[in-house]
Amino acid sequence: MTEIVLPGDKSITQRALILAALAEGESRLSGLLAGEDPQATASVLRALGVDVPPPPVDGSEVRVRGVGLNGFKAPERDLDFRNSGTGARLMMGVLAGQSISAILTGDASLRSRPMRRVTEPLSEMGATFLELGESDRLPIRISGGPLNPLTYESPVGSAQVKSALLFAGLTGGAVTSVSESTASRDHTERMLTMVGAPVISHEVEGRWQVELRDPPKAILPLDFAVPSDFSSAAFFLVLGLLGGAGPELTVRRVGLNPTRTGMLGVLARMGASPQDLTHSYDVPPDSPSEPIGDLTVRPTILKGIEIGEADTPAILDEIPILAVAASRADGLTRLTGARELRVKESDRITALVENFRSLGVAVEELDDGLEIEGSDRPVRGEVDAFDDHRIAMAFAILGALPGNDITIRNRDIVDVSFPGFWTILDRLAPRAGSG
Ligand code: S3P
Repeated sequence: MTEIVLPGDKSITQRALILAALAEGESRLSGLLAGEDPQATASVLRALGVDVPPPPVDGSEVRVRGVGLNGFKAPERDLDFRNSGTGARLMMGVLAGQSISAILTGDASLRSRPMRRVTEPLSEMGATFLELGESDRLPIRISGGPLNPLTYESPVGSAQVKSALLFAGLTGGAVTSVSESTASRDHTERMLTMVGAPVISHEVEGRWQVELRDPPKAILPLDFAVPSDFSSAAFFLVLGLLGGAGPELTVRRVGLNPTRTGMLGVLARMGASPQDLTHSYDVPPDSPSEPIGDLTVRPTILKGIEIGEADTPAILDEIPILAVAASRADGLTRLTGARELRVKESDRITALVENFRSLGVAVEELDDGLEIEGSDRPVRGEVDAFDDHRIAMAFAILGALPGNDITIRNRDIVDVSFPGFWTILDRLAPRAGSG
């Protein structure tokens, strides 16, 4: 039996760094992800006057002395979030409530992603934004200050939008209520509650509503261990199910927040039985902190299924690797209701379709998804990462399956969320990366 332990969760690491920076007192954080995205956020926080060390690769504890909810200093340089949409959007919310002005920017991928989904509701709260390049895109100058209360029906199901608005309510001292059609990942709600800024979540007329009813004047420091990233585990779960990691593979102590683990149900619908795909909890799913447990997979035969809009919030970042699973399943998989994939680190629908086509996998592009005809024919060739860590890792897993051989152009992009990915893959499936 093979066991692996994976790096910290990207979403939770970003929030832990931000909340530690805003706390009154010293936070102790361990298990932080040392990937490029959190490193970018840590460096932005340093530019704003918070002494945040770079997250270490071994996940060892770091201490961060917070500057309070309104303690940032005006930065002397542009705030460069590099590839990180979460960093940029969450920090827009944080900065909206601070009486300073700053220019936010990022790499070419981030500068091609929509920002009005965040700047429009933040403008309603009273922050001002100046788009310095193309409309709806970074670079953007933000000027913040005390904010007005907001009740907002988010037109997109996005944890980044929801979190940005809650963070704005926190730093801007404004009662904030956000609703979304289906609950997106709830790390911000859990962590705000942990630091003494309780968020109330409930269903209202068929929508999921989260409310910061009583923004505090100060928040408590965190003493917190970040769990491993389920979205990183997802790649190796599929490798194991498709027979690329030996008879049994266990991923230890991974985050199992139910707003993130929708892929387990989708894989069960694809035919993975409870013996092929098992999970057990160290911290149970109803815990107010983050649920944690082990996942074990064994090789099996998967079948094609329909994946629809109701599935997407809880499988959002796993769609590239689920598409790879579908390409090795029996029959057709049809994914719809996933238009948001077009505005991720790449247009993931186009990236998947182009890469599958170049490898000879039968795919059809849909406006809001794709259809994939599964096959067990060996696939060989070269594909592009499209500046997108998850596209690179999904095709790396396909290439690591017995009989396949795929070279990934720009493969170092995996460091955005998963430094060490290639080392683990080489250990589990030694032929991988030979191309
Ligand atoms: C994230 C939210 C999701 C997800 C991203 C991380 C977060 O994005 O795709 O990888 O940490 O809040 P959206 O909020 O744009 O859906």
